Amino acid sequence: MNATIVLLPGDGIGPEVVREARSVLEVVARRFGHRFTFTEHLIGGASIDAHGTALADDALAACRASDAVLLGAVGGPAWSDPNAKVRPEQGLLGLRKALGLWANLRPVRPIPELADCSPLRPERLAGVDLLVVRELTGGLYFGPRVSDVVDGRRRAFDTLEYTEHEIARVVTLAFELARERQGRVTSIDKANVLESSRLWRQIAIEVGQRHPDVALDHQLVDSAAMRLITAPASFDVIVTENMFGDILTDEAAILAGSLGLCPSASLGHGPRGLYEPIHGSAPDIAGKGIANPIGTILSAAMLLRHSLRLEAEARAIEYAVAATIASGARTADIAAPGSKDAVASTAEMGARIRDYLGKVEV
Ligand code: NAD
Ligand code: IPM
Ligand code: MN
Repeated sequence: MNATIVLLPGDGIGPEVVREARSVLEVVARRFGHRFTFTEHLIGGASIDAHGTALADDALAACRASDAVLLGAVGGPAWSDPNAKVRPEQGLLGLRKALGLWANLRPVRPIPELADCSPLRPERLAGVDLLVVRELTGGLYFGPRVSDVVDGRRRAFDTLEYTEHEIARVVTLAFELARERQGRVTSIDKANVLESSRLWRQIAIEVGQRHPDVALDHQLVDSAAMRLITAPASFDVIVTENMFGDILTDEAAILAGSLGLCPSASLGHGPRGLYEPIHGSAPDIAGKGIANPIGTILSAAMLLRHSLRLEAEARAIEYAVAATIASGARTADIAAPGSKDAVASTAEMGARIRDYLGKVEV
């Protein structure tokens, strides 16, 4: 197949991890006989420095014209002044909104060999296989916000707003995905306090009535945060609003062992999607060549699965990642505590994964 993939490396470790994922996709193309055309554009702080805006029109146009977009990360201390007029994160939020990507799929399936990396006891991790479906283009991220001065005192507010339609489409997707999995949806909200959560819960119940083969439970976000740590295997599909999903997925990442391992797919109505690791630009390790590229490489696998419908190719990448981990390769974030084993750089980890990919039967 021929496909056009836009790469948006972004800031910090973004370019380091996207480089490895691109090379993995190139190996997939060679082995499976596809032609992927890559074009690269700036986003985030890199784009602010070059163009004064976090996402230039031609970059957005290239994304719109592509089959899929693979992004590294945006942001960093250089662009974090609270009074800044333009912010790197605006590029990413604008891209999600402009492409209509209202659902963000964040799977978490711990790899048994990495149980040591998680602060949880291994028996708590047994059987964990969850998928968070995070609403991505509504809620606090996109509601009206104000920062001003009233009667000489500073004030600021953000607004958490959802319409019935926005809730119903993402909850429906969660139910459809649950059907292909263990058939259970947990809808997470704050319905004891928030009006928007009470609407969310009502719609979840209505969507649930149209999917009687899928079990639905509801949980308040605070106790759900605890259940993620105490009983993570009790979840199958979680569906939740934008900000709750952002926070809960960084928490869930530690079930896998590191933020650097976790991929995501952002989808809307059509096949075109945006794929990115769930982590950020990691300013503390940027430029050192030690970032874990697996979250981005597994995001590339999700790109093949969801946007290009190349399931065998996606599985080949997932197999290669699992085999690489099983062989003992470790970046610093997943190195066994106290181990004297050599720690792999970002580039070495990518190369090991490509070696295994080269051995996959086609
Ligand atoms: P972060 O995710 O960048 O880093 C949190 C911690 O995890 C750091 O210690 C970092 O070193 C570590 N880490 C993250 N990814 C890693 C990897 N691949 N390998 C090894 N270790 C990894 O979160 P932060 O420090 O709160 O945010 C930094 C910047 O990133 C902010 O500007 C934020 O807005 C931005 N951000 C961007 C995205 C995105 O582009 N999708 C996501 C989250 C945060
Ligand atoms: C993420 C990030 C983004 C978000 C930021 C950078 C806007 O934290 O993708 O998880 O909050 O959605
Ligand atoms: Mn986040």
